[in-house]
Amino acid sequence: MNQPIGVFDSGIGGTSIWKEIHHLLPNEETIYLSDSKNAPYGIRTQQEIIDLSIKNTEKLLSMGCKLIVVACNTATTNAIKVLRNSYNVPIIGIEPAIKPAALKSSNKAIGILATRGTLTSELFTKTSELYTKDIKVIEVEGNGLVELIESGNENSHQTRDLLITLLEPMLEARIDYLVLGCSHYPYLVPLLKEILPIDVKIIDSGEAVARQTRAILQQNNLINTSSQTLRRPVFYSNSDPKVLARIINAEKENYKVSYLDF
Ligand code: SIN
Repeated sequence: MNQPIGVFDSGIGGTSIWKEIHHLLPNEETIYLSDSKNAPYGIRTQQEIIDLSIKNTEKLLSMGCKLIVVACNTATTNAIKVLRNSYNVPIIGIEPAIKPAALKSSNKAIGILATRGTLTSELFTKTSELYTKDIKVIEVEGNGLVELIESGNENSHQTRDLLITLLEPMLEARIDYLVLGCSHYPYLVPLLKEILPIDVKIIDSGEAVARQTRAILQQNNLINTSSQTLRRPVFYSNSDPKVLARIINAEKENYKVSYLDF
């Protein structure tokens, strides 16, 4: 029960999910793996995404994790079935919040920003078809965004210009909800708020994943009840750890971020 929760992503973006988990479950130890060396996953084949997801999961399991959170939409939509069939621990994934956006949209028009890997996956297509029958859905591939975030440019002019171009078809369709279908994209919210009209609501899946993680821990009697002092969250990157350290404010928060070859 006092084993850690393992969280992985193609890079630093999944820390947006990790933050919600840490906030909701402060008595749980966590290990975060940033596979930045192999980012972005969104342009890879499904087999490559499955192989990378297996590699990350096995690394976290070798560190004693009791539950795995796939904090990457692309890995979830392409690999979660294989992971769930292969390992004996609970595996939580993230799916774009299409359902709440579709249900709440007054304009009957929503936008989904995600990677090609997510938008072309079977899981995404099925979920979208299920909830958006009478809704106009503007899907846009966020090509280039993950690379900009991974290189620390989430607030740059270049990112702003790219977002303006990518969001154009959504604005033309008068969307009133923008679904962020990639765990990197919450780091774009400050720019998105500047670009989008005030009445367009932005939704991501971070809180929902954290609630789901808590529910699954409870169902499986895995909640940490030990009174031992918790280890600080542990973060590993297989690329420059400074990039990961910056996005989680590691110095201020006293988080340990290390390089690990995995
Ligand atoms: C990517 O690595 O291309 C994006 C990760 C995600 O879909 O959350």
